[in-house]
Amino acid sequence: MTQPTTVTEDTITDAAVARWATAHDPRTAELMTALVRHLHDFARETHLTEDEWMAAVRWLTATGQISDDKREEFILASDVLGLSMLVVQQNHRLDPAATPATVLGPFHIDGSPEKASGEDMSDGLPGDPLFVHGSVRALDGTPVTGAVLDVWQSDADGTYEAQLDVDEARLRAKYTTGDDGGYCLRTIAPLGYAIPMDGPVGDLVSRTDISPMRPAHIHFLLAVPGYEPLITHLFREGAEFLDSDVVFGVKRELVVGFTRREPGPTPDGGHSEVPWYEARYDFVLQPAG
Ligand code: BEZ
Ligand code: FE
Repeated sequence: MTQPTTVTEDTITDAAVARWATAHDPRTAELMTALVRHLHDFARETHLTEDEWMAAVRWLTATGQISDDKREEFILASDVLGLSMLVVQQNHRLDPAATPATVLGPFHIDGSPEKASGEDMSDGLPGDPLFVHGSVRALDGTPVTGAVLDVWQSDADGTYEAQLDVDEARLRAKYTTGDDGGYCLRTIAPLGYAIPMDGPVGDLVSRTDISPMRPAHIHFLLAVPGYEPLITHLFREGAEFLDSDVVFGVKRELVVGFTRREPGPTPDGGHSEVPWYEARYDFVLQPAG
């Protein structure tokens, strides 16, 4: 007859690690044994109480319950803890001359409508007209033709389509570079906004001095065959909260000036009757591998 094993406070970690080391996939075994060790260390270091353990369980449950196909509260949690940016940075150690990557965030939607160069993705929503234009190039300067820029942003109230009950695509579009690698998109100037504060993440953040704000930005995703996929943002130079972004997403190289222009010719070859803003940015892609 086998004897029951008595685990103690001192032996439980080794026992749990040994159990999870039996995972069939070696990487799963590595991840799970490290997770067990770090969780146990956390509980020991903080002398976690049962009430605190239960509060954490309730918080995780609420985080799952508020999530759906349009809201990713766990991603938001990872973002505000700085975990998302850590994972992005250690997985995208790009050449310093390449455009740096940042967090995806919870609001990207697949299947954005394709727009022609210079076509307006704001569909007349209120805001300052903004043209963002430039090129997509490889590290050696070669223009990348046919690159698709998947673009999304919040409206002038800081709200994303995913937060609204709307059927039509809103403030998101795909633009394709021409033969010279050039692109030109038309939109409205974004404003800074607070991350969603009505869920468990907001509840935690509101019990700290952390500002829930993100600086004004536009998101870009470039998945071009032969190049490292790039998920990034452009931030407005001089915007509030550039030095306190709640998700740690700002990089100096991604801050661009929005220059005010008087009514007149616009970069798409058209003409604006009202003042507009111009931002220029050349995306530099790193070859894959
Ligand atoms: C965003 O910029 O869309 C975003 C990123 C991380 C958390 C919340 C929002
Ligand atoms: Fe955003």
